[in-house]
Amino acid sequence: MKALITGATSGIGLDMARYLDTLGIDLILTGRREERLKKIQKELHKKPKIISLDLNKEEDVYKLYDKVKKENIDILINNAGFGLFGDFNETNLDRELEMINVNIKAPHILTKLFLKDFLTKDKGYILNVASSAGFMAGPNLSTYYATKNYLAKLTMAINEELRCQKANVSISCLCPGPVNTEFNKVAKGKFLVKGVSSEYVAKLAIDKMFKRKMLIIPTLKMKLALFGIRFIPYRLQLIITHHIQLKKNK
Ligand SMILES: NC(=O)c1ccc[n+]([C@@H]2O[C@H](COP(=O)([O-])OP(=O)(O)OC[C@H]3O[C@@H](n4cnc5c(N)ncnc54)[C@H](OP(=O)(O)O)[C@@H]3O)[C@@H](O)[C@H]2O)c1
Repeated sequence: MKALITGATSGIGLDMARYLDTLGIDLILTGRREERLKKIQKELHKKPKIISLDLNKEEDVYKLYDKVKKENIDILINNAGFGLFGDFNETNLDRELEMINVNIKAPHILTKLFLKDFLTKDKGYILNVASSAGFMAGPNLSTYYATKNYLAKLTMAINEELRCQKANVSISCLCPGPVNTEFNKVAKGKFLVKGVSSEYVAKLAIDKMFKRKMLIIPTLKMKLALFGIRFIPYRLQLIITHHIQLKKNK
């Protein structure tokens, strides 16, 4: 089997690469930081193919597909993504548009292209890394939450289409709460609650992906929180989430 992982230079993507490597799966890893990709290539047993690119650029997304479409990929993991803390009237518009490109546009395009290929051969797995933020609105991290809502809901809708088609292709959505990665450094914030390790999240996500689970929520605490929030009025949800995000913002 062969897997393509976006955002494999750190955090959850890197740990997914490490875990898939231990399972003997061939890998194609992407990210912008070429030096890191080269280091990871040396570290892994099955010497992955590495492709350095910027998913903010639509042409790079199509170039990636063109480069790998003949590789007979079985697993697509749309993991690359980032956030940005701050009130919407203060955050940088260019950075947010970049976020929309990386968190929404790139996984949308790659899901569309690979899904068609996977359906043609009637096999394959797609794992989209959204977030628990995909089920809420997030004052002070608004664009990030909105992008993750898009990815989570898109993935769930496709999952239902595939179920009705009785396709042998599965699509899953990983929705973690706080995970200890480089996320906070990039987003310029910090977690209010203790994050879980990216090794734990990565292994669980891959195992559940192979079991064709639609929603993968790594901890019981987050499962309960996401269940409970359904019964809370929107205004109260917003007040709670805003409070949490303001405490996270440095
Ligand atoms: N950490 C959390 O608490 C948490 C919780 C829920 C969901 N998530 C999601 O998990 C995913 C992985 O994040 P992480 O927590 O592991 O953070 P991370 O350590 O910062 O990893 C982010 C990855 O995305 C890549 N990336 C970012 N911008 C890119 C671009 N323009 N082009 C190509 N690659 C890009 C980075 O690679 P380069 O910098 O080398 O390009 C890096 O490999 C993200 O989608 C994030 O939203 C994280």
